[in-house]
Amino acid sequence: MKITKIMVSGLSLVALMVTIGCGSNEVAKTEVAKVASQLATPNITEESLGLRKTNLYAEKAETEGDMAKYSKDVTGASTKIARAFENAPPMIPHDIEGMLPIKINSNECLTCHLPANAKGMKESMPNLTEIPASHFASFRPATAIGADGKITKDGKSVDNTSDLLTASHKLDKLSNSRFNCSQCHAPQSQVDPLVGNTFSPEFSKDGIGSSNLMDTINDGVDIK
Ligand code: HEC
Ligand code: HEC
Repeated sequence: MKITKIMVSGLSLVALMVTIGCGSNEVAKTEVAKVASQLATPNITEESLGLRKTNLYAEKAETEGDMAKYSKDVTGASTKIARAFENAPPMIPHDIEGMLPIKINSNECLTCHLPANAKGMKESMPNLTEIPASHFASFRPATAIGADGKITKDGKSVDNTSDLLTASHKLDKLSNSRFNCSQCHAPQSQVDPLVGNTFSPEFSKDGIGSSNLMDTINDGVDIK
């Protein structure tokens, strides 16, 4: 309503000024009355601006959102969710009750998903996906400033910070930037979508159910 008001008032003010400029008091009065009635009945309501169709100033029962319904299927008995697009972080299909929050000394996700652990776990949970190679890599070149004040990236002297594009370094452990799994992987709640999805992804072979990021990340990149 506020935006509409400002727009209506702005335009009307110009109209008023023009009219008053013409020197007719009667016309000016009519204009004022017109503006007042426009302000009283805005043609764009706040309710029509958002996804929520109830009064924005009232938190009544009819405004409550849908209850989040997460999967209760236990690990090993859940059905994987198709990726949203090629190399999208997969959604978590199983119950994560008791696994969060991830703490510095306790990350239950690793118990099953860390490749070293997953090998044995797969006997009882054949669909278990191992943490991919991309999570055991750093995508940032080691950057430093030498004694001469020059920037070095991965030991090479560069003039500009964007001069050296290093696609990845293999790490011998899980990258710290991947420790907080729930930062990128989330469970999927079953709800009626507020807005329909018209996006249809194109997948490479197997891309709908698995990752190929480490094989394709250099595609189209000219690494110096
Ligand atoms: C007890 C073992 C176990 C634990 C703990 C566990 N998972 Fe899983 N996870 C699985 C299994 C098994 C699957 C495959 C689906 C199935 O069989 O239920 C899976 C599937 C997934 C998937 C989907 C993979 C794909 O290819 O689509 C993601 C993402 C995931 N888990 C993330 C997590 C995160 C994040 C945590 C910690 C909050 C976690 N998991 C904890 C066993 C586990
Ligand atoms: C910074 C975001 C991010 C974090 C943090 C992260 N992931 Fe991922 N994950 C991704 C993305 C993006 C993909 C898909 C592309 C790829 O493989 O890198 C993925 C893919 C996966 C897959 C599917 C692998 C496959 O072969 O299909 C599993 C399983 C997984 N992650 C588990 C985990 C677990 C467990 C953690 C925590 C230890 C974690 N991830 C942390 C972003 C993340």
